[in-house]
Amino acid sequence: MNISNLTKLIKIAVGTTVIALSSAASMAELTIGFAQTGSESGWRTAFTNATKAEAEARGYNFKFSDGQGKQENQIKAIRSFIAQGVDGIVLAPLVTTGWDKVLKEAQRAKIPVVLVDRGLDSDPSLYVTSVGSDFTQEGAMIAAWLAVETEGTCDIVELQGAVGADAAIKRQTGFANVIENFSGMKIIASQTGSWSATGGKEVMESFLKSIGGENICAVWAHNDNMAIGAAQAIKEAGLKPSEDILIGSVDAIAEIFKTMADGETNVTLELSPYQGAAAFDALEAHLAGKDVPKRITVPGGLFYPETAAEEWAKRK
Ligand code: AHR
Repeated sequence: MNISNLTKLIKIAVGTTVIALSSAASMAELTIGFAQTGSESGWRTAFTNATKAEAEARGYNFKFSDGQGKQENQIKAIRSFIAQGVDGIVLAPLVTTGWDKVLKEAQRAKIPVVLVDRGLDSDPSLYVTSVGSDFTQEGAMIAAWLAVETEGTCDIVELQGAVGADAAIKRQTGFANVIENFSGMKIIASQTGSWSATGGKEVMESFLKSIGGENICAVWAHNDNMAIGAAQAIKEAGLKPSEDILIGSVDAIAEIFKTMADGETNVTLELSPYQGAAAFDALEAHLAGKDVPKRITVPGGLFYPETAAEEWAKRK
């Protein structure tokens, strides 16, 4: 893979199409249950707030459940939605496995389920559609940026998202797929930072201690919160984040633009927090008897330091 292909890759990713569904006139007061993962990151909170606002704007009788980072809580919530006879369920699955049983229960109760944000490995006949970003492409885009930035020579440490999460699995794969084309690029350490700044900082501190900052070229963080924590750890180790050690991450939460404007991270890839609207459109179209594609991809763009101060001003 050469540099010109990489720039093409970056261009393609920015241009990803969205299949917009024209939903039927807003449905008279729908009762919709939303099983959220928890509140593990800044992006998750932004996504929850945007989805609640969208549900209110549509006049839904909206039942929100915070899974608090536990799959069993999400399964319990879905069972309670089924028992309440809701019109539809929206699920952001914490992990990819272990959903068959409860999805079959919803199907038997004739309650449609739409996946949002993350996917899962159950048979697609068990849900209406899966709305979300192309996580594999996200990982590939950050790797492509890093390959261009370092001309294909870089020892990288990876801050993974939570184990078993679709986003973490696919971002890791997408990144690895690109760097395997460069003999000079390799992951020298990889560990979960649990999507949080604290987790990112702790793991980065252990990498700096065990490997030595002078031997680390870049940090690939699966989300911005972990990148912010890593930048802090790098500073406390007397090094300059974004210069001595490059940092690339995903989400484009408001805070990352402050960190980037302060010259402490290099690039972020936006993950839209407005995916709830596409999920509700899909549910309404399904309830109106319309065909819904099995996959609805939400696009995301790359942001660099040049526009960081402006973005921070807009989003803070
Ligand atoms: O599933 C998307 C990921 O989940 C986001 O990138 C991360 O911030 C969140 O925890």
